Amino acid sequence: MRWDARQTVTMAVKRIITRSAHKICYEYILADIFLAFSQHTNKNMNLEDHICLVTGGSRGIGAAIVKKFVEEGAIVYFTYHSSSALADALATSLEGASGKAIPFQSDAADFEAAGDAIGRVVEAEGRLDVLVNNAGITDDTLMLRMREDQWDRVMHANLKSVFNLTKHALRPMLKNRKGSIINMSSVVGVFGNAGQANYAASKAGIIGFTKSIAKELGSRNIRCNAIAPGYIETEMTRELDDKVKETFLQNIPLKRMGSSEEIADLAVFLASPRATYITGQVISICGGLNV
Ligand SMILES: NC(=O)c1ccc[n+]([C@@H]2O[C@H](COP(=O)([O-])OP(=O)(O)OC[C@H]3O[C@@H](n4cnc5c(N)ncnc54)[C@H](OP(=O)(O)O)[C@@H]3O)[C@@H](O)[C@H]2O)c1
Repeated sequence: MRWDARQTVTMAVKRIITRSAHKICYEYILADIFLAFSQHTNKNMNLEDHICLVTGGSRGIGAAIVKKFVEEGAIVYFTYHSSSALADALATSLEGASGKAIPFQSDAADFEAAGDAIGRVVEAEGRLDVLVNNAGITDDTLMLRMREDQWDRVMHANLKSVFNLTKHALRPMLKNRKGSIINMSSVVGVFGNAGQANYAASKAGIIGFTKSIAKELGSRNIRCNAIAPGYIETEMTRELDDKVKETFLQNIPLKRMGSSEEIADLAVFLASPRATYITGQVISICGGLNV
């Protein structure tokens, strides 16, 4: 609700009523106007009729993106790996919102499954407007101790998944002559982090991939951007030990962790028609950690 606009309307109506010398209860009239105005301005429909797919939407940042997209009027298909109860609960909680949330199980690291996931959305809706490659995992350890399977697992879930989904999403987006792809990277992909060589490499890979796709497909009106979150409060960061958390917080100018909702707000913006001239960007959202 924009206070300036509300004040202007209030003053104007007060003047009219006072001048006309009708001592009717103008508070009631004002209340009606406020209500109508508020309903109008609070109606966030930036993604009305947008068909979206979010990977890893069952919890954390992905769940916040699903929620905000649906509240903005989007039809959101979202995947999970194993948390079916959480995914169903999220979809149920959004019944009655402007848009709709449809969960289904799909392993983003599996090329065939990624094809099926995109196919499912396009078959049901005829197109795909927005793809959010959010699914991700960590398997942290120092390089001296890191096993090959720890490297492979993280690279598959975090980086190959982005290739898998994007590869299958391109045809429908090309046909539709537009698309927005949002990839979840990390500040760790920009700066690196001791004990996270596998994770940091996967997130850095996402940045190179994002910029390349933006260059390849910009002429076809397909945008591709990456979000690089800092230290965000989710299950992923809950596992970090207190000493690591303390060090992070000391280095964050805003002196707090971020919330999933704050990341979701940026995703809404990048997905929306308000960001149609933004592509190939890596947008950090980290409380100033990168300054
Ligand atoms: N939290 C942070 O501080 C932070 C910072 C920078 C970047 N990020 C990135 O942001 C994204 C979300 O992180 P988060 O903190 O919200 O993580 P989270 O709470 O651990 O949630 C991860 C989500 O990804 C799903 N997932 C994992 N592997 C999958 C796979 N192979 N196929 C499909 N879905 C899969 C999970 O599904 P299930 O629930 O079924 O397991 C879950 O929905 C990740 O890419 C992460 O790297 C997070």
